Amino acid sequence: MTLRFKLAALVLGATLGFSAPVMAQQPVNPTASSVQEQQLLDALKPGETISGRISIPDARAADLEKPSNKTWMGFNLGVSDRVMGVALVGTALALLVFFMVKGRLAIEAGRSGRTITRFNIFERTVHWTMATSFIVLALSGINVAVGRYIVMPWLGYEAFGSLTYLGKLAHNYLAWPFMLCVVITFVMWVRHNIPNRLDLRWLKEGGGLLVKGKHPPAKKFNAGQKIVFWGVVVGGGLVSASGLLLMFPWFLNSATDWQLAQIAHALIASGMMAMILGHIYIGTVGTEGALDAMTSGQVDVNWAEQHHSLWLEEELARGAVQRRGPGGEVTPAE
Ligand code: HEM
Repeated sequence: MTLRFKLAALVLGATLGFSAPVMAQQPVNPTASSVQEQQLLDALKPGETISGRISIPDARAADLEKPSNKTWMGFNLGVSDRVMGVALVGTALALLVFFMVKGRLAIEAGRSGRTITRFNIFERTVHWTMATSFIVLALSGINVAVGRYIVMPWLGYEAFGSLTYLGKLAHNYLAWPFMLCVVITFVMWVRHNIPNRLDLRWLKEGGGLLVKGKHPPAKKFNAGQKIVFWGVVVGGGLVSASGLLLMFPWFLNSATDWQLAQIAHALIASGMMAMILGHIYIGTVGTEGALDAMTSGQVDVNWAEQHHSLWLEEELARGAVQRRGPGGEVTPAE
């Protein structure tokens, strides 16, 4: 064999040797990796996780797949979203039916034309700051939870995306004035909201709704308002705490903690939104003369007599308003 022939045989053999594995490879399957992932997930027992290797200090970031995430997602779609829908739509319908049956609660003696200060400018500013921030938080929260079903279909993907982004920014920033106002509200009004025996009577008499012309006595806040006050303080406190954990998730130990905080946030917020819907109804269309308390800060004396007779007595005793006889004559406050 000549040297030239030997060299040619060597080159041919080497070429065939190197190319053999390449020829043995399967054609590329673009879904192979996801198929493998599914097989891995199927093989996982509940509570197990597929983790990778990472070089950053936060060890939690190593989790790649967690089947328990699906339980959380299922709960969100199947329970949380429905609870929110039922809470909002159910309350709105109940209020509508109530309004159709009972109508507006009138000032029975008519307006007297004399007023008494119910809330000062500071109280009203805190109330409206809390109210506006809560309403934007509620609307942007509802959008994140169920906006894809009710807003996206008529707004389209792009506009819905921009709106949701702006809503999320508003949600993050308005949470701060809301939390501050909840704390101020607590300090400002807690002394008027300690439950007492009068509240039981007020509740038994249905707040005066059961018998026409009969109104249970109440001080500055009646039992219904005390429920709203504590609902705002406790509910607002819990929704704030869970919201802060979602905003700063590194204070939590695991994704499961984050998921629990998210579920708590959604459920407590749903309860609060339903309660506030009722509160807005009572404060506006539901009760004649109530809104004045939070706009001008002055309420009609006859309104005060009907809804907060003991508070009016206290104010009369302080000389905050003059008592008038049936003929309109002014008599000194006792
Ligand atoms: C358009 C929205 C709202 C309106 C028209 C409204 C109206 C009123 C009115 C008229 C009062 C005074 C009732 C009285 O004289 O005793 C009041 C009190 C109060 N509001 Fe609002 N409010 C609104 C939203 C909110 C929101 C969003 C919150 C909290 C998240 C809130 C929390 C309170 C609390 C704690 C009180 C004292 C307790 C009570 O009277 O029920 N309000 N509101």
